[in-house]
Amino acid sequence: MFLRFRRARRCQCVQLMTTCLVLSVVMVCWEQLDNSVVSHVKSYSYRYLVNRFIDINKSLTIPHEQARTFSNFPYLLDHPDKCAGRDVFLLLFVKTSPENTDRRKAVRSTWGNETYIQNTLGVTVKVVFALGAARKGEGINFQKRLIQEDRLHGDLIQQDFLDSFHNLTLKLILQFHWMHSRCAHAHFFMTADDDIFVHVPNLVGYLQDVRSRGVTHFWVGRVHRGAPPIRSKDSKYYVPFEMYQWLAYPDYTAGAGYVVSSDVADKVYQATLTLNASLYIDDVFMGICANAVGVTPQEHVYFAGEGKAPYHMCIYDQMMTSHGHVEDIYDLWKAATHPQVKQWTSGLTGRLYCTAVKMVLLCKPYYFNTYPCKAAFL
Ligand SMILES: *[C@@H]1O[C@H](CO)[C@@H](O)[C@H](O)[C@H]1NC(C)=O
Ligand SMILES: *[C@@H]1O[C@H](CO)[C@@H](O)[C@H](O)[C@H]1NC(C)=O
Ligand SMILES: *[C@@H]1O[C@H](CO)[C@@H](O)[C@H](O)[C@H]1NC(C)=O
Ligand SMILES: *[C@@H]1O[C@H](CO)[C@@H](O)[C@H](O)[C@H]1NC(C)=O
Repeated sequence: MFLRFRRARRCQCVQLMTTCLVLSVVMVCWEQLDNSVVSHVKSYSYRYLVNRFIDINKSLTIPHEQARTFSNFPYLLDHPDKCAGRDVFLLLFVKTSPENTDRRKAVRSTWGNETYIQNTLGVTVKVVFALGAARKGEGINFQKRLIQEDRLHGDLIQQDFLDSFHNLTLKLILQFHWMHSRCAHAHFFMTADDDIFVHVPNLVGYLQDVRSRGVTHFWVGRVHRGAPPIRSKDSKYYVPFEMYQWLAYPDYTAGAGYVVSSDVADKVYQATLTLNASLYIDDVFMGICANAVGVTPQEHVYFAGEGKAPYHMCIYDQMMTSHGHVEDIYDLWKAATHPQVKQWTSGLTGRLYCTAVKMVLLCKPYYFNTYPCKAAFL
């Protein structure tokens, strides 16, 4: 009997300890969850109820001479005649860094191959790379190598600011200013990371449709609505209160890849002439510029943010962009542009089959960073 009593006590003790442990884990997690829930509730309320984004525009407006300090870096590499004398359908800017030679090589020989696009799609797409300068005295002389690379390919647009994460907004401004002065007649402008995959045939087809409908005020991508500024200092995206004091950012598209029509590109250019571009998150800054000139983004389910496309021909048939591709880009390009993709996915059976496949691939009961479930029914 004594033994049984002891066993029962030990049991209770273990139970108590387990409960305590579980409770403390829940409390620690809850605090973090709570922070993020609270900041999202606040930012959504701000976005959907208050919606006073006009104040942002006012408070970030600075005199022209001061705004110029964000754009008047001298060009180290430039190609002023890149677009000259051609009816450019799309100017495609790839954001890159001096050391990402392999990524640029991969882009040039896959989705960024201008000759291939011209031959197979019959439109002129200009692909250029935007970059800043390498850190001085880094051992390897990046600049010399860049000059060589540029002599071979003639597609690097480089300004003399330090190429760093916190200077991404300067890179954004570089792109809009370059387009304004060198390629203003292009019908569309796209900016993309150097580790994304762009299904250029699908994209061009889609943009041709947009253009045939005479759409202006056009800005498409993966839209972030009511995103809160991150106030935790550990985050890469930390933004201090002094830099941005409101509860939510204006709507913006994920920087991985988005497209605007030329009228929007021009308006955004105008906005960059009067705004304080200290905010270093480039896609958020784009949202602030667009907000200042009254442009709002529209969502396209097959534009990726951070997400990666599942490998399947039913996806290849409709995808626009997919994020996080480096090594697999050659295979993906081959598979995604294979003529059989369109053959197998068309017709009633093809479409029914693809809807089923996409439901399996995209509609999961748990979070999975890819295209949203509704993309299965498009
Ligand atoms: C680009 O495409 C053309 C035509 O399809 C091809 O001849 C050329 O080798 C490609 N360029 C690269 C860098 O792969
Ligand atoms: C941005 O570039 C400027 C000009 O090169 C440089 O002075 C500054 O330190 C850079 N900022 C960051 C955060 O890297
Ligand atoms: C731009 O904003 C930063 C803070 O984000 C501030 O330090 C700077 O003084 C502002 N620039 C101008 C010209 O007002
Ligand atoms: C933003 O500010 C600029 C310059 O002060 C002004 O011309 C523009 O109309 C403002 N935009 C909005 C949406 O209030």
